[in-house]
Amino acid sequence: MKEFKNRTAVITGAANGFGFEVAKECARREMKVVMADIDGEDLKKASQTVKEMGVEVLTVEMDTSVYEEMENLAKQTLETFRTVDLLFNNAGVVTSGSIWEMPLKDWEWTMGVNVWGMMYAMRVFVPIMLKQQTPCHVVNVASVAGLLTTPGMPAYHTTKFATVAMTESANYQLQMMNANVKMSVYCPGFVQTDLHNCEKRRPERFKIDPDHPYYQSESYRAGLAKAEHVITTGIPITSVAQSIFTAIEEEQFYILTHPQYNPVIGLRVKTMLEGKNPSAELFRK
Ligand SMILES: NC(=O)c1ccc[n+]([C@@H]2O[C@H](COP(=O)([O-])OP(=O)(O)OC[C@H]3O[C@@H](n4cnc5c(N)ncnc54)[C@H](O)[C@@H]3O)[C@@H](O)[C@H]2O)c1
Repeated sequence: MKEFKNRTAVITGAANGFGFEVAKECARREMKVVMADIDGEDLKKASQTVKEMGVEVLTVEMDTSVYEEMENLAKQTLETFRTVDLLFNNAGVVTSGSIWEMPLKDWEWTMGVNVWGMMYAMRVFVPIMLKQQTPCHVVNVASVAGLLTTPGMPAYHTTKFATVAMTESANYQLQMMNANVKMSVYCPGFVQTDLHNCEKRRPERFKIDPDHPYYQSESYRAGLAKAEHVITTGIPITSVAQSIFTAIEEEQFYILTHPQYNPVIGLRVKTMLEGKNPSAELFRK
């Protein structure tokens, strides 16, 4: 996809972080912008900024982990703008904690948004794009956490590996169909966004009991503190949108942003192929 002017971009998780940055870049490129997010207040503020850039904006307050709400997003998009040309499939949350300690609701929430929501968007929007037969692009937002593993956040890793896998598999299929739809999977390291504050965007049906002993535990507090530290000390968010658009224009599938993690990704594969065991020594340093 090389032409953006007057084409339609659908962005999930558009009220903050990567989604908001990409929405502003879409406006710079004179696209029509559909901004979807669960956080109505932040969505209002973010969409106001994008509207002031002089483009048409449709805002949809919705939860990506509910299939009917994704279908409604597509319906509203087509009714308003008639086409969908770019999907930035981005809404996501982060949780940490061991498999044996973390309450199931946390798993359900993380999987619901990061896996099911991601799949729902592809399931709903890719057929619309195929039918259009015009150049289209889907960017699924995974993470470097979908290419390597670390201790303490199995749910997040699970969802990001799933995103990489579903994007790779769908992309092979689209290639075999000579389809008009191209795909990329975005795998950044830590970037300064609002991700560590995602708890306030937990949908009602995944609500937890704050008095549950887990949420009073040292390991839970340590997980929260770590998430806040790595996000707030990540790279600044400026310029990420530009690099995403360059990848779309050049039909680059894997979008990696932090070269310092490449040796770790390589080591994981090398360890596997050499029949060795992964070692936690890497994280003791
Ligand atoms: N920030 C990082 O360091 C980093 C690194 C790698 C990957 N990512 C991924 O980037 C994506 C975007 O995160 P971000 O860092 O911009 O965080 P962010 O919190 O700044 O933005 C995420 C947006 O998604 C929205 N959202 C959350 N749950 C939703 C739901 N159920 N339905 C609709 N919208 C929902 C939030 O309201 C928020 O506006 C996520 O998938 C995240 O896993 C982030």
